[in-house]
Amino acid sequence: MSCPKVVILSTIVLLLVVGRVATEADPETQGQTVSVPPATPSPTEPLPFDEPTVERFFTAVKNQLRCGYPMFGVPSLVPLKLSYTLKTSFDLLSLKKISVVASNFTVHGLNEFSWDPSRTRFTRTSATIPLSFPNVTAFAHTSLNGANGTSFLELRNVTVRLDAQYEEKDDLLYVTELGGSVLLEDAKVKIASLFPKSAKLSKIWNKAIGKSLPILVELFNGGKLKIEYLSRLLSGAKFYAMNTINNALNSHSLNFDRLVESMVKFADGSPDSLQCDGTAPMTGDELVGWLRT
Ligand SMILES: *[C@@H]1O[C@H](CO)[C@@H](O)[C@H](O)[C@H]1NC(C)=O
Ligand SMILES: *[C@@H]1O[C@H](CO)[C@@H](O)[C@H](O)[C@H]1NC(C)=O
Ligand SMILES: *[C@@H]1O[C@H](CO)[C@@H](O)[C@H](O)[C@H]1NC(C)=O
Ligand SMILES: *[C@@H]1O[C@H](CO)[C@@H](O)[C@H](O)[C@H]1NC(C)=O
Repeated sequence: MSCPKVVILSTIVLLLVVGRVATEADPETQGQTVSVPPATPSPTEPLPFDEPTVERFFTAVKNQLRCGYPMFGVPSLVPLKLSYTLKTSFDLLSLKKISVVASNFTVHGLNEFSWDPSRTRFTRTSATIPLSFPNVTAFAHTSLNGANGTSFLELRNVTVRLDAQYEEKDDLLYVTELGGSVLLEDAKVKIASLFPKSAKLSKIWNKAIGKSLPILVELFNGGKLKIEYLSRLLSGAKFYAMNTINNALNSHSLNFDRLVESMVKFADGSPDSLQCDGTAPMTGDELVGWLRT
């Protein structure tokens, strides 16, 4: 599941700064400060943000997820399709050796999320933002000892906290660090064709696996479940995300303030921000300049 995280990271980091310009652009604020040059905020001082602007920005992002960001090599995420084949095997209570091939992953629900303003914080050099996904479900074609079917894993109430650090150098903004945490409330799984000859056994085993999930969820949330494979995937995703973001910032010559300006334009759907229409079929062309300043 590196891709969802990559894209979410890529989009989120770009948007944390929205409220700053929104606040500065407020006519009343401008009126009050017109004769006094604004003090440069300290790099570590939390910046105020305008909640409705950020909400509008997220609405625009949800639409954009449907189209992807082809110019940054990011495909549509609604649903997200992963052309990845997982091959593994496990022993079922030392009773039965099961070899698993899973392919054609489809992930639903990445465009359904809510944002928690009360736990959001950003400065000119760092940002923290929590997002909650009520239902992320992954379907896959699975083959268990040669018996084919469609399995799924449903993740309920996933809370992702993203931390980003960035800095300006030569009038360009660079992301220097991405991190965060994932909390999971509940999970449900159904594995197809576990016992192809017995629907009853399959049902019993799916129920047993389902019952053991809360324990796995606890271990995962407590950081006790270290999935070596997953951490490798995610650390790869981190560098991919940072590279993608920095390339985008660079090719659009964005510094902090110009990025904020672009994000506000994006939130407001102004004509030169070129958002995609979430319901229209994608041609690619309409997206090319969404970050243009
Ligand atoms: C996987 O997806 C590809 C392309 O979408 C399709 O051609 C293939 O039949 C699918 N395989 C299975 C086993 O569903
Ligand atoms: C979660 O999403 C999946 C895929 O869209 C859907 O099939 C499932 O019914 C949803 N579950 C709940 C509890 O809403
Ligand atoms: C199961 O799917 C695989 C492709 O994923 C295919 O090669 C195999 O023939 C299928 N097996 C059966 C029994 O349909
Ligand atoms: C998800 O979490 C929120 C806040 O923690 C809670 O209000 C909500 O009921 C949860 N939803 C589900 C489907 O568990």
